[in-house]
Amino acid sequence: MSHDLHESLRDNVRVLGDSLGRTIADDLGDGFVDKIETIRGFAKTGRQDGSASQRELINYLRGLPDQDLLPVTRAFNQFLNLANIAEQHYRARFRRVEDYKPGSQPALGELFERIRETGHKSRQLVETLANMRVELVLTAHPTEVIRRTLIQKYDAIDDCLTAMEGAVDYPEKAARAHGRLQELISQAWHTDEIRHERPTPVDEAKWGFAVIENSLWQAVPDFHRDLDSLLLDAAGERLPLDAAPLRFASWMGGDRDGNPNVTAKVTREVLLLGRWMAADLYLRDLEQLKVELSMWKANSALKADVGDEPEPYRALLKRLVTRVESTRDWAKACLDGKSYDGGPIIETRDQLYAPLLACYRSLCDVGLDGIANGVLLDTLRRVAVFGVTLTKLDIRQESSRHSQVFDELTAYLGLGHYHEWDESRRQEFLLEELASQRPLIPRRWECSVETREVLDTFRTIAGEHREALGTYIISMAGQPSDVLAVALLMKEVGGDVRLPIAPLFETLDDLNRSGEAIDRLLSLPGYRRLAGDRQEVMIGYSDSAKDAGQLAAAWAQYRAQETLVEVCERHGVSLTLFHGRGGTVGRGGGPAHAAILSQPPGSVNGSLRVTEQGEMIRFKFGQPDIALRSMEIYACAVLEATLLPPPTPEPEWREEMDRLADIGHSAYVTVVRETPDFVPYFRAVTPEGALGRLPLGSRPAKRRQEGGVESLRAIPWIFAWTQTRLMLPAWLGSGEAFATRMEEEGGLERLREMRDKWPFFGTYLDMLEMLLAKADVDIAAYYEHRLVDEPSLKALGKQLRERLQHLESSLLEILDQHELLEKTPLIRQAIDVRNPYIDPLHGLQAELLQRNRDADGAISPALSRALMVTMAGISAGLRNTG
Ligand code: PGA
Repeated sequence: MSHDLHESLRDNVRVLGDSLGRTIADDLGDGFVDKIETIRGFAKTGRQDGSASQRELINYLRGLPDQDLLPVTRAFNQFLNLANIAEQHYRARFRRVEDYKPGSQPALGELFERIRETGHKSRQLVETLANMRVELVLTAHPTEVIRRTLIQKYDAIDDCLTAMEGAVDYPEKAARAHGRLQELISQAWHTDEIRHERPTPVDEAKWGFAVIENSLWQAVPDFHRDLDSLLLDAAGERLPLDAAPLRFASWMGGDRDGNPNVTAKVTREVLLLGRWMAADLYLRDLEQLKVELSMWKANSALKADVGDEPEPYRALLKRLVTRVESTRDWAKACLDGKSYDGGPIIETRDQLYAPLLACYRSLCDVGLDGIANGVLLDTLRRVAVFGVTLTKLDIRQESSRHSQVFDELTAYLGLGHYHEWDESRRQEFLLEELASQRPLIPRRWECSVETREVLDTFRTIAGEHREALGTYIISMAGQPSDVLAVALLMKEVGGDVRLPIAPLFETLDDLNRSGEAIDRLLSLPGYRRLAGDRQEVMIGYSDSAKDAGQLAAAWAQYRAQETLVEVCERHGVSLTLFHGRGGTVGRGGGPAHAAILSQPPGSVNGSLRVTEQGEMIRFKFGQPDIALRSMEIYACAVLEATLLPPPTPEPEWREEMDRLADIGHSAYVTVVRETPDFVPYFRAVTPEGALGRLPLGSRPAKRRQEGGVESLRAIPWIFAWTQTRLMLPAWLGSGEAFATRMEEEGGLERLREMRDKWPFFGTYLDMLEMLLAKADVDIAAYYEHRLVDEPSLKALGKQLRERLQHLESSLLEILDQHELLEKTPLIRQAIDVRNPYIDPLHGLQAELLQRNRDADGAISPALSRALMVTMAGISAGLRNTG
């Protein structure tokens, strides 16, 4: 069976590849297509028989005339994107995600059974699901390389594949779909794959709303339907009407951390756009309901509400439609800067929910349950999940921006310099002001532009309904005063709106001290009065890995969560952990199910927030079927982690991890911070410098313009190493740690025991395995060969590659395997199939980087675009940016 399915994937890749070939031939002639075929041939044999053919490939690429470089890179990039479409289509259609990771992606039905078998009562199952609160937070992180214009074409290509498969017995229909497919591929070929300008934060937010419109709007009610019927089978009960186990929040237009383009004005605009879009989407549902709910039988409550109407449901819906239309008009007027003088608008979820619920109850009361549970129920579910704003918008700002406000203010008031105060002095001041009745900020205060922007953001918060906003996140947080500062600003300028405040701990030290910081914070009565019995804490995966190396960071994240769970329990506070995970392994990414189940027991407990970023939003939520499956995976993982939590680690495992993390950390730091040649090597050998030209997102690659690797954000740091396939940040340190332990008596056995019995460690190894399968020392060596002359840098490169190779042998030994991905052959195949298409892009990238350096960064616009296309193509080939 699985063989046949895989055949269908191969067929589709062939169909798409042939169409692309025809398009290119029409555009540039058969001679050009022959060149592409020659390159692909060399790359393929290069993969099979090694260096001689690889040299031929390189020589051929280096001999290409300048005018060929852009179309050649484009051809390989487009092919890789088409291969991704075929693969995504295959996964969605056959739901064979489990093929990619055997046994690790349970379906809800099976999980319900397992939960029942372990002695949990049906009631407990229903209650856990009904109270579950998982928030998937869509962020605008700049990791999506594909333009929206092309994504739309790719989605349409996917639809053509579906139509062709569904038309085997209708040759004319199949031919029509095929014709359309050819047209779309031609459109894509004749469209620039690289944006000419950076998207604005508002563009990014529109993209987020489009994902809701095109995919989640459908997937959400489907998900609830599936959940409902599975629950009915397993527990004899249905999901409560207003349950929303999974919701969506957003950072798009709210995350201003290191992004000066996200201003208070932008945030206001995005909030209005959300209102407008929500009204527009609900109007489509309501219009349909108005057409369909033509029944006359109604209960007395509805009759009393609408009066003597022959079609009471329509009468009520008509009223509701008018109000939602007014809401849309109001939002539009505000967006256009005009005044609004129409009728009353919908402000809250309940104003939309209550009339729909009245219709629902009435239909059920008069025996028309079948009708109630149709489109109407879907709309109710949407209201429960999306509210009147579609997502809750989080705000994120860096801690130093808040302390700067207080530094300026205390200086202005003649109180001294806040920056010079120690933590206890700061806390004392902030708590006193939090308790004070008089305002702190003088009206006439002339503050700096930066401070004004921070204050304006709080004013924006003050002007919003609480339902529109999520959490206020403080990046680079470390101390209780970081949280108190935001609480005070909220009190001073935030009006009555009090958002939950979540410190984001994202360096090794801050993670290590996070439990203590939260303990001190929760011990302050002045804070507890404000925060009540809830605390949200965000864990930063990628920055901590950048700071300390992946292994030490992973362990620090784990321990931080354990401590936070313990501290919050002690204070009687319910903790929500917010996981700031990126898409790739180096940024804490990985399959959601495995990631959630590898967290410490007790840390999930029905509630969880997690970021979904960039290309991952497309992979996981870009189409309704895929989104449905992703939602199921999340629900399964959180339910399982809550009711069947992973084991508490044995003391010996913890000791082992302490040692591994120490060795890993010092190996990482020795290379990254203490080796003088390291930064020059990084700059010379990776496309880091050129990455900034890729207009992926609205935010700059660096927090500050000056500064070395420290000021570089985690995304470009990982991105750059991914492009050369050394993938260094995600593995450096692990090899030394494993090797040291494996040389010691009983070390290997201990590591294997942890692999088998401890999901945290097992998942860590799985992710490392996946990453090493994508790493490639030959390619990394080629970049160095082409771009580095100094012997000392070359020596460092050689040493790094050797470390990677040693790690691979150690890992295989721990996994008891002969080669990587032995147990997940489909992932292996997916990588192998793509390599001959990615190799030429690497060859060309190194070439273009060298020419760019020779020209002092002034290569022609066509070559500069070719360089960008190589970056996009390699990302597409590896299925992530890094
Ligand atoms: P941040 O995210 O730099 O926005 O904190 C890093 C990442 O997602 O890798």
